[in-house]
Amino acid sequence: MVADPSPTTWSDRFEQGLHPAIERFNASIGFDIALLQEDLDGSVAHARMLGRCGVISEPEAERLIEGLEAIRSEAAAGRFTPGLEAEDVHFAVERRLIELLGPLGKKLHTGRSRNDQVGTDLRLWLRRRIDAIDAALVRFERALLVRAEAHPDTLIPGYTHLQRAQPVCLAHHLLAYVEMAERDRQRLADVRRRVNICPLGAAALAGTPVPIDRRQTAAELGFEAIYANSLDAVSDRDFAVETMAALSLVMAHLSRLAEEVILWASEEFGFVGLTDRCATGSSLMPQKKNPDVPELVRGKSGRVFGHLMGLLTMIKGLPLAYNKDFQEDKEALFDGVRTCLDCLEAMAVLFEEGLDFRPARLEAAVAADYSNATDVADYLVARGVPFREAYQLVGGLVKACLLEQRLLADLPLERWQQLHPAFEADIHAAIAPRQVVAARRSEGGTGFERVAEQLALARQRLDRTP
Ligand code: ARG
Repeated sequence: MVADPSPTTWSDRFEQGLHPAIERFNASIGFDIALLQEDLDGSVAHARMLGRCGVISEPEAERLIEGLEAIRSEAAAGRFTPGLEAEDVHFAVERRLIELLGPLGKKLHTGRSRNDQVGTDLRLWLRRRIDAIDAALVRFERALLVRAEAHPDTLIPGYTHLQRAQPVCLAHHLLAYVEMAERDRQRLADVRRRVNICPLGAAALAGTPVPIDRRQTAAELGFEAIYANSLDAVSDRDFAVETMAALSLVMAHLSRLAEEVILWASEEFGFVGLTDRCATGSSLMPQKKNPDVPELVRGKSGRVFGHLMGLLTMIKGLPLAYNKDFQEDKEALFDGVRTCLDCLEAMAVLFEEGLDFRPARLEAAVAADYSNATDVADYLVARGVPFREAYQLVGGLVKACLLEQRLLADLPLERWQQLHPAFEADIHAAIAPRQVVAARRSEGGTGFERVAEQLALARQRLDRTP
């Protein structure tokens, strides 16, 4: 159709083009093209609103929308590939629209600025990605839950300070990560409420004399509310920081689990074996099977934390309202979201089919330490001995056993009774690992019945989740 694009983007105030190095330096098209769909969605809503409000005629609005949809089709066919001269995705779309529609295309930007536009695009983009991360968290939780359900009475050493502390149910251990993931989902849902507020119509910073209807565009784009203050609307990036903070915690949780899997897969622990689906070999050592997947997850957590610091530092000194510094928010968000999605998927696959727990090794581990010492003390407490006194007595007993190189379970009844007359023949049963675990019936504890309750609750919750 009519081809009448302006030779440069700027007004006639400018006489010279940008220095090529500065053109490259200034441009964000290389990465913000990722916002194309959202930019088109925002512009379609804006054009329709301009028509309804009588700022442009309804047929003009219709033609603008058709032009925008034509650009969407071109992009789908791989035929929309703006270069550096477009500077950013917003200009790229507007230029193409003017190429397609002629002078009418120049009406789209009425009552709008790239400042409110980019904020709108980013929020639309983030809203979708938060939903994708939520779905990825659910898949990850399901993978953990299926494993937990497969091991309702497998035991695993429980640690504090990475020293054997007390045995726990393997399911209980895995469910702890399900709890973390649930909190991550709640946190993201909360952040999403603040992402879902529309800045469009704040224009450059002060609002606009054009008789627009901000609520119409906000409603059409599915936003829950509009920003109350135009200055705040174009300069708020709290939602980006909050999202990155929430993603950082997701990554911290994944990284902790990754670290455990790495330990568990070592020869020293031997609690899990890695399947060929998720492990890698060494280019040199033929015997090696390496846990690259959890190592990468652990390593990638650093980039997301880095983006959080980057965003905070980027906003901290900015006067109101828009500053170009904000252009830096995009790569952080894009990379943070992609990293988090990739890691959630990788950890879900790892638990779905990348590892096998080794019940025999786990069984042997919990039977071969002093992690039942607290239960000996609790045994005496149940028979009227004050806890601190029992604690001291058992400490002495453990010391003696260490010297004799025997376990508490191997001590004959006479030894127990020498230590304290309250011991009876049932002491051996009381300190068997399975009994030690079963006895921890306090709410939230690792006792089998408690864990069964938690498994059922998690199952119910996940079955109800789409
Ligand atoms: N590419 C810009 C960004 O990412 C779009 C907004 C530019 N606004 C401006 N006044 N220069 O923030």
